[in-house]
Amino acid sequence: MQRIFSGIQPSGIPQLGNYLGAIQNWVNLQADHECVFCLVDMHAITVWQEPEKLRHQTLTQAAILLASGIDAEKHILFNQSAVPAHARLAWIFNCVTRLGWLNRMTQFKDKAGKDRENHSAGLYVYPSLMAADILAYKATRVPVGEDQKQHLELTNDIAQKFNHDYGVSFFPEVEALIPPAAARVMSLRDGTKKMSKSDPSAQSRIEMTDDADAIALKIRRAKTDADVLPEDPAQLENRPEAKNLVTIYAALSDISITDVLAKHAGEGFGPFKQALTDVVVNAIAPIAQETKRLMQNEDHLLSVLRSGASRAQAIAEPIVSEAEKIVGFVK
Ligand code: TYM
Repeated sequence: MQRIFSGIQPSGIPQLGNYLGAIQNWVNLQADHECVFCLVDMHAITVWQEPEKLRHQTLTQAAILLASGIDAEKHILFNQSAVPAHARLAWIFNCVTRLGWLNRMTQFKDKAGKDRENHSAGLYVYPSLMAADILAYKATRVPVGEDQKQHLELTNDIAQKFNHDYGVSFFPEVEALIPPAAARVMSLRDGTKKMSKSDPSAQSRIEMTDDADAIALKIRRAKTDADVLPEDPAQLENRPEAKNLVTIYAALSDISITDVLAKHAGEGFGPFKQALTDVVVNAIAPIAQETKRLMQNEDHLLSVLRSGASRAQAIAEPIVSEAEKIVGFVK
């Protein structure tokens, strides 16, 4: 059985893009993989996080993942900082990674913008910690949204260089599992920008804890154009907002974009947004409700994370110890 590793930053409340690009896939992959799911709190602090908020968001994310169908008994759910093997391997990888490779990372460029000098060193070396997350478990499959593809290519470059420099074949190649639909869900306010849990405007995203009224309002206010829906998917190409809403509808109803258009072609956005609201509420509301219930028992959430961390540690410790031996550290 292949091992899966994937992570999510507790830097906000997960949004619909996280769900469609990653979480939904994680839930389905549990049937035939050994899965390790991680709340990457060390990645989150690469940009400033209020400590109390970070703690709360970490627990909320644990609850959302459980409510979405992550089985934390059969599989592993934990927070990154609880397993020191990640930081130890990340340091080794910082010494393997070349500056030129990090300079090419589009996510760093997007996040740092022009004000590069004022961002943390952690944000810059973010991708080597991500490579360490995956390779500390020798995981071979990584389910992510499209925006993480470049980081996974870098993970393979780091693994190859480590193997080459030390003359070993220790770290495996990793494969990105990117969902065929909704691999990149866009903002509700701007169809050219990715939906993100850290966007300053909460109107730009549907959060996994939103209730039916909040979902309806956000979809009603979502930016669209004045045209009706076309019959041919190719005609959505220059209409990013329309394409995004149709894509969300298709991904949540598990049908193709062609089928959504066959049903709704000729409709304006008034009725289509109503239909989309029903689809989103049906998918999200039960998760939001179960999350609320789970959040009432913090002790339970803490014990799920602690049990996950100790099982994660049992896998990662021998692998990272061996990597340290390969490097020449005295053990
Ligand atoms: P993060 O927290 O930004 O996002 C978690 C997952 O959600 C996906 N995602 C999206 N998919 C589709 N449309 C969107 N608008 C959208 N926004 C986010 C992301 O692709 C991701 O799969 N670097 C990672 C966290 C990480 C990780 C890892 C992932 C750390 N270590 C090891 C895999 C393996 C990140 O920032 O995720």
